[in-house]
Amino acid sequence: MTAAIVCSDLSFSWPDGTPVLSGLTASFGPGRTGLIGVNGSGKSTLLRLIAGELHPGSGQVQADGDVGYLPQAITLGAHRTVSDLLGIIAARAALHAIEAGQVGEEVFAAIGDDWDVEERARAWLDRLGLDVTLDDRVEQLSGGETVLAALAALFLRRPGILLLDEPTNNLDLDGRERLYDAVASWTGVMVIVSHDRELLGLVDQIADLSAGSIRMYGGNLAAYEELLAAEQAAAERAVSVAEADVRRERRDVAEAQTKQARRDRQGRKLAESGSLPRIVAHARKRHAQESAGRSRELHAALLLAQPAPQLLLLDEPTNNLDMASVRQLSQALEGYRGAIIVASHDLPFLRSAGITRWLRLDRHAGLTAIEPP
Ligand SMILES: Nc1ncnc2c1ncn2[C@@H]1O[C@H](COP(=O)(O)OP(=O)(O)O)[C@@H](O)[C@H]1O
Ligand SMILES: [Mg+2]
Repeated sequence: MTAAIVCSDLSFSWPDGTPVLSGLTASFGPGRTGLIGVNGSGKSTLLRLIAGELHPGSGQVQADGDVGYLPQAITLGAHRTVSDLLGIIAARAALHAIEAGQVGEEVFAAIGDDWDVEERARAWLDRLGLDVTLDDRVEQLSGGETVLAALAALFLRRPGILLLDEPTNNLDLDGRERLYDAVASWTGVMVIVSHDRELLGLVDQIADLSAGSIRMYGGNLAAYEELLAAEQAAAERAVSVAEADVRRERRDVAEAQTKQARRDRQGRKLAESGSLPRIVAHARKRHAQESAGRSRELHAALLLAQPAPQLLLLDEPTNNLDMASVRQLSQALEGYRGAIIVASHDLPFLRSAGITRWLRLDRHAGLTAIEPP
């Protein structure tokens, strides 16, 4: 896609310093783009910047082609007749001069290739439903007719890029229908600012200006709204999943805390009775101190200590542990990368702990290396 309009890092503030756009980057390609955004988001300002009516404080606007612009609030300026408004006074005068027998070079120059300019002008006025002659005075036109006449002038000029700012606001139903037809058959680049749902149904893409940046969506307003609805539904699903997660997490924490409190009680009893290994007792005590929040299992707390211990001495670590705790200890040891010396009679535990060297301590023979039992 070759972009016809490129806005690079565009910033604009009003003379009183109020910023409207800051660092906006966007491009508009061929076809019709509907530019939407809440009131005051800067849509009209952006069109005026593209049209060259305003100049950016920094950044650039590049428009690849002749730009035609229909302002949101049309002022007819000094135009006196419909011909004047359509910009065809000189060409018409030249045509009439030739009809009157004048053949000077400047007369042909004024016409250029536009020999049929009167017919084309008339055709556009008819097409837009304007019941006026080329010589009618513009102050006789109603608000809606003024918009249509300004549109006729633009369509007649055939600019490569057409910018329309809320073109249907002042139009009655008939005027709107005629504009929709003209927009639908226009083949150049068109950027239309509008809230008119029917008009936005005709565009090829939607540009959503919000919080100073533009997001582009392929397709018309209906496609855009469908996508937003899907995004909304996905966001709502994500929220309810997250809520369920939070509920589950709270329940887990409460359960873990209850369990931990029970273990701590048991641990204290065992420690008092002297049957709990010291290292475990120590870990359990420390863990009890840090058991706020999500419960870490006893041995994990030991093994996952920061910094991790490089050597662990475990003296009959499983003696007082229930099966679940033994499993947890094995799992924790699996992830442990330091050295372990463990004294134990618990063969299943030792096998699961990833022991690499087995030693037997014998009262008479002393310490000897053995095959894994
Ligand atoms: N001539 C101006 N001078 C100062 N502020 C303006 C002028 N025109 C518009 N604004 C302000 O600039 C902001 C953007 O306006 P505008 O581009 O017209 O928004 P939109 O067309 O999206 O409704 C608004 O806050 C508006 O009040
Ligand atoms: Mg506006």
